Amino acid sequence: RLLGTVGAAGVTGLALGAAGGAAGYAAAASGPAAALATVGSTTEPFHGEHQPGITTPMQSHGHLAAFDLAQGAGRREATALMRRWSATAARLMAGEPTDDDTGVALDAGPSSLTVTFGFGRTFFDRTGLTAQRPVQLDPLPAFSSDRLDPRRSEGDLWVQIGANDGLVAFHALRALQKAAGSAARTRWQMTGFNRSPGVTARPMTSRNLMGQVDGTRNPKPSDADFDSRVFVPATGSGAGSAAQPAWMAGGSYAVVRRIRMLLDDWDELSLKDQERVIGRRKSDGAPLTGGGEAAELDLDRVGPDGSLVIPADAHARISAPEQNAGAAMLRRPFSYHDGMAADGTPDAGLLFVCWQADPLRGFVPVQRKLDRGDALSRFVRHETSGLFAVPGGAAEDGYVGRRLLE
Ligand code: HEM
Repeated sequence: RLLGTVGAAGVTGLALGAAGGAAGYAAAASGPAAALATVGSTTEPFHGEHQPGITTPMQSHGHLAAFDLAQGAGRREATALMRRWSATAARLMAGEPTDDDTGVALDAGPSSLTVTFGFGRTFFDRTGLTAQRPVQLDPLPAFSSDRLDPRRSEGDLWVQIGANDGLVAFHALRALQKAAGSAARTRWQMTGFNRSPGVTARPMTSRNLMGQVDGTRNPKPSDADFDSRVFVPATGSGAGSAAQPAWMAGGSYAVVRRIRMLLDDWDELSLKDQERVIGRRKSDGAPLTGGGEAAELDLDRVGPDGSLVIPADAHARISAPEQNAGAAMLRRPFSYHDGMAADGTPDAGLLFVCWQADPLRGFVPVQRKLDRGDALSRFVRHETSGLFAVPGGAAEDGYVGRRLLE
């Protein structure tokens, strides 16, 4: 019942807040307003086997930021930084202010805030830990369709922030930037969004800025092989993967790509052609071969004219694990919109973030195949790239990365 509130009746609560000021809003704290308050009070745990923000349901607001260690900063400074960052993240995720709080999020609950930390390839040389660097952090291969901006790619450290409120997310970003102190400086930063919780009448897969239902065939935590696909096992290596250092147990690898959508070109396609690009219906995400959203793709079915119903270059066909020796990843993106680009088209698209136990068994083989002839490629442009080792979660008395840094 709560889910439909923001989309349908929630306007009442919001209007009251605007008309009656804070007092009017508080007096209306039943019905829709009470439902809205539950969005704020929801918390995610910071400590645990895995870091938050990987299997957490996608939040409505997010920031991705990379940091480089300052000149002269090494392992000691990096260790102190990870302690400070972990303590700050734990406090904010519990809904507590920091010591020098800016007040931006003071009246709001943590709103499912998550903070996730990762290490880039360059981190290991900077800290004298090259021997501990996983081979899984070897640079991604170049793809023919890449148009990468190195200044907005990679980085020594990576932070992913998600929250179901824009002010809470911004507040966390600022707090972490301040906590970086003189140890590290922001290299790049990107801001994204997803649908707000409660705007659909029932839980539904989200849509991207092309209007497609996106995320249908993601691995699910209830799948028997979910953990082995997404997380590095305690033994340090997974089936078919190169060995991993022990400090990565319970961790994962994030591939981060800012993928610009050429929306003006996309919008010129007919609905039928748009659906053939993906191989799924736009209205409900169902395969073009029929059934509901969850139905299997019938990749062999041909239509009356003898051609494949799901075209040979359809995105959903080419990226399917069955077509890629089982390669799979957990896609957990944000959309972005940064106004108009210099060429007069929308600077909008997907902050594509995907999670896997080994990028060579997830992103790389799938992108290699998409790069060779995916129908969607004509409408997207990969503008930045990052690959980060995201260690397991912090223990109650620990901090993220402790097993690497101590
Ligand atoms: C599936 C859109 C980029 C991998 C899908 C689907 C859509 C979609 C609509 C079908 C629904 C679903 O199963 O989620 C997009 C858009 C992209 C993009 C708009 C760029 C802006 C990528 C990239 C990769 C990727 C870069 C990986 C290299 C996948 C995978 C599936 C999928 C693995 C599921 C296939 C299956 O299991 O059947 N994508 N995608 N996508 N996409 Fe993408």
